[in-house]
Amino acid sequence: MKNADNEQIANMTNTTNNTFAMDVIKGLQEIPKRLYPKYFYDSEGDKLFQEIMDSPEYYVTDSEMEIFTEQAAELSRQITRADQSFDLIELGPGDCSKTIFLLRQLNKDLISFNYLPIDISPDIIDQLEITLPHEIPGKMIKGYRGEYIEMLEKAIKESSRRKVILCLGANIGNMTKDEAMIFLKEIHDLMGSGDILITGFDLIKHPKTIRNAYDDAAGATSRFNLNLLHRINRELEANFEVSSFEHYCSYEPETGSCKSFLISLKAANVKIGKEQVTFTENEFIWTEISQKYTLRQIEELAYACGFIPSGHLTDSRKWFADTIWIKI
Ligand code: TRP
Repeated sequence: MKNADNEQIANMTNTTNNTFAMDVIKGLQEIPKRLYPKYFYDSEGDKLFQEIMDSPEYYVTDSEMEIFTEQAAELSRQITRADQSFDLIELGPGDCSKTIFLLRQLNKDLISFNYLPIDISPDIIDQLEITLPHEIPGKMIKGYRGEYIEMLEKAIKESSRRKVILCLGANIGNMTKDEAMIFLKEIHDLMGSGDILITGFDLIKHPKTIRNAYDDAAGATSRFNLNLLHRINRELEANFEVSSFEHYCSYEPETGSCKSFLISLKAANVKIGKEQVTFTENEFIWTEISQKYTLRQIEELAYACGFIPSGHLTDSRKWFADTIWIKI
């Protein structure tokens, strides 16, 4: 490799690491301390998240998967209009393992559509652009690499076709209720009249079921949460003594908020690059929120954001809902 190439790669790595470093230091200087969930997903984090999804307690992925495998035909029926082609835009498609059932169904129903996935991770989009053309031959697939709202604005301007926007999984759940409202209103303002938004919501259920899902017995969630500190050590020249931190999860039935924390088991002085952060014994870092909703709260949220809720699909246990909202 040429020297100039090496230098360019080093600079790119530095820029990415600088934002990461700044976010980490800023978050740990806040009171209370917090770290941003987007940093969970390095390659080690991806593996550990797969372990969470495979754990018997984590029902979220399986529940939504059931909706897509069992009710794709119904979903297709609810989003198609006679003789109207549309752009299906997805925020955070992952490996597309759920949406693929809808894509195949639309194909089978001879519906004319394009698929436009948006993700912050270019790898995810690169991968989909390779695999999807074989799955849905003849359909236009165009990926967008970047932040949701910014890319959505671009994707919507692509054509005057009707839009159906997908925002599945834990996307909305990983925002506070206020953040979710702001985000959904932003999407609403970009949509045209008659466009559809499909959003995944994790539903309120027995508090123990929720707590167990976020604190599985085999410890995958704990390793996933703690990997954030390992990652900071690996990438930001930090010296967290990770064994003196513990994963802790709380679920409050009154608010539906499930939160994940890292607890410092002892007073500590941690170096992160050139900065120092101090912890008192039992001090916590807030790392994630997974907000749960009732169907009624979801309906109220739809109206509050300017939508008409037109229907929803749930899995057989009624643990997860994909809701269909229309912009009027
Ligand atoms: N954010 C996802 C969710 O809320 C994934 C997740 C599962 C997670 N368990 C976690 C994130 C524990 C942080 C901590 O379902």
